[in-house]
Amino acid sequence: MIVVAGSANIDLVARVSHHPEPGETLMASGYAVHQGGKGANQAVAAARLGAPVRFLGAAGDDDFGNQIVANLTAEGIDADGVQRFPGSSGIALITVDNDGENRIVVVPGANGQLDDSRDLAGAMGGATALLVQLETPTAFVNAALAAGHAAGAEVILNAAPAAPLKAFAMDAVDWLMVNAGEAAFVLGEREGATRDETADQARRLAKQYDIGVIVTLGADGALWIGRDGSQGHVPGRPTTVVDTTGAGDTFAGAFAAARAEGQSVEDAIRMAGVAASLSVGAAGARAGMPDRSAVRAAMGE
Ligand code: RIB
Ligand code: NA
Repeated sequence: MIVVAGSANIDLVARVSHHPEPGETLMASGYAVHQGGKGANQAVAAARLGAPVRFLGAAGDDDFGNQIVANLTAEGIDADGVQRFPGSSGIALITVDNDGENRIVVVPGANGQLDDSRDLAGAMGGATALLVQLETPTAFVNAALAAGHAAGAEVILNAAPAAPLKAFAMDAVDWLMVNAGEAAFVLGEREGATRDETADQARRLAKQYDIGVIVTLGADGALWIGRDGSQGHVPGRPTTVVDTTGAGDTFAGAFAAARAEGQSVEDAIRMAGVAASLSVGAAGARAGMPDRSAVRAAMGE
């Protein structure tokens, strides 16, 4: 069982020629409402690959909240751990430009009500892997990390959106998953200009916290530094980019699914990279997330 503790949002997406400058008013060429939220997206990515998934998060008592729960359930995810709070569900205001690159503003809504008061230990029963991101309050993140670690799950922290790590229970973390910008941010440094510079940042993070570090590199694939000193790089694969929203989430969910099946770190990163590369081919965070047969076909199996 993969447990995902994190945010669920409704994504309000405007398609634009370019992202607006300060003070600029821009006419969009299209609008769509999608399911989103880093936590819920990661849960869906793992479930599409056949993993049993339990989602722990929050939704408002509005109709968006009903849609959030209904969509997770329709994906085969155990959504009993979605707490409903009075008020709005989480909302993400997103612009996506002609290159498929996004800008996102998250209004936390119900996600912001999550804290450390619920029984997370009980919810970790049978968990082999736990995925957590940083779109929910710190108290909830830390309670989930500690409960997952205590349950013996492989604990994966996707530090997105990036925040200083000193507030988090890094002792409970096995793998830190970040993109190159986030790796630099959590170190208080500038983004590496080359893959070697990024690898050096990953190495220092691994050492500082005694954890494994995985850095996603977009079209360049991903690199990892293991806690045991192992390291490597998996190249990216050419793909058609429509919308990169949710690519990192697809990578995280697919990595957890592969690990839960007992795949090696390198094989899991390879499968996650293929899943992420497929996900960017469709608009919205989840429409492009592949199922198992699509991943197999893309891997030439
Ligand atoms: O990672 C992509 C997600 O970030 C979007 O679905 C949006 O809801 C924000 O949480
Ligand atoms: Na997408």
